[in-house]
Amino acid sequence: MNLDELNKVALAMVAPGRGILAADESSGTIKKRFDAIGVESTEDVRRDYREMLFRSGDGMKHISGVILYDETIWQKGKDGTPLVDIIKKAGAIPGIKVDEGSKPLPNCPGEVVTIGLDKLADRLPKYYAQGARFAKWRAVIDIGAGIPTHTCIYANAHALARYAALCQAAQIVPIVEPEVLMDGGHDIERCFKVTEWVLKETFQQLYHNRVALEGMVLKPNMIVPGKKSGSKASVEEVAARSVKILKACVPAAVPGIAFLSGGQSDEEATAHLDAMNRIGNLPWALTFSYGRALQHAPQTTWRGKSENVAAAQRAFSHRAKMNGLAAMGQWKADLEKKAA
Ligand code: 13P
Repeated sequence: MNLDELNKVALAMVAPGRGILAADESSGTIKKRFDAIGVESTEDVRRDYREMLFRSGDGMKHISGVILYDETIWQKGKDGTPLVDIIKKAGAIPGIKVDEGSKPLPNCPGEVVTIGLDKLADRLPKYYAQGARFAKWRAVIDIGAGIPTHTCIYANAHALARYAALCQAAQIVPIVEPEVLMDGGHDIERCFKVTEWVLKETFQQLYHNRVALEGMVLKPNMIVPGKKSGSKASVEEVAARSVKILKACVPAAVPGIAFLSGGQSDEEATAHLDAMNRIGNLPWALTFSYGRALQHAPQTTWRGKSENVAAAQRAFSHRAKMNGLAAMGQWKADLEKKAA
C-alpha cells in the first residue's frame, strides 16, 4: 500500500469547494427514481442520463469525484468515449460502489447487514484498472422500537472495516459510509446518540483492521430528527449537533467527511453543510457526497426528453455550485432565489 498516494486521492476528493456526486444507484433504485419521472429504465437510458450529468460542463467544476455503479463504470458514452474518461476529462475522479446491497440480519428483526466481502479482493484490481481510485460501501442502521441492536451495529462496522482494509490493499481509497436512516419517528437526540454509537464502533473496527485513517473518507448522516417525528430542527441546531458528534468520534487524521443527503430537501442539505462550515476551526474538510440532493432537480427537469437536456444540465450545475459554496461556508439562501 502506498499511503501517500491514498492520502493525496482522499484530499483531492474533499478539496475546497468541491464534493462528490453519488451516481451509483443500483438498478432497482434508479428504476424507482425513473418511475417517479415517467422514464423507462433501460441500460441505454441509464447511460444517457448519467452521461448528461457528467457532460454538464460548469457543474462538474464543483465535483471532485463520481461514485459509479458496476454497470456504469464499463459503459461508453454515445460517441464511444468511456464514461470514466468523460469524468476524468471533467476533472473528477471515478469511484465505484462495491457493496452488494443488504440482507436481513438473522435473529435481529427489522435489521440488515451489508454484504459483498466474499469476492471483493478479486474485484478491486479490475475496478482500479478501469480507473477507479476510490470506492464506497454503505451500511444501513435503522432506528425504531428496540433497534438498533449491538449485533447490527457491530456486524455492519466490522464489514465496513474489512472492506476498507481490502480497498487500501488494492490502492483504492475507501469511502466508509455508516448511514443512520432519517426515516423513523425518533427525535434529534436519539439520532445523535445512535450516530455516536455507530461512529464509535466503526472507528474501533477500523483500528482493529489496521485501516490507515489518512487514506479514507467518512460518509456519515447529519444529525436530524426522524422524518416521521413531525418535529423540525433549525439549521443551526443540525449543524451544531452534527459537528459536535463528529468532533467527539472522528480522529483528525481523517482527511475529510463527505455527507450523504439521506432524504433531506435539496436546499436543506445545502444549508446544513454551509452552516457546519461556518462554525469553522474543524480538523477535517466537510463536504458533500449527495445522491438525491444533487440529482432530484436535474431528474425532474429532464423527464427523459432530449429537449430538456440543457435545462437539466443547468439544474444539476446549479445544485453542484450551491453545494460547492456550502462546502466553503459561502452559500447564501438568496443565491437560490436569484437562480429561480
Ligand atoms: P443520498 O444523498 O441520496 O442519501 O445518497 C448518497 C449515497 O450515496 C447513499 O449511499
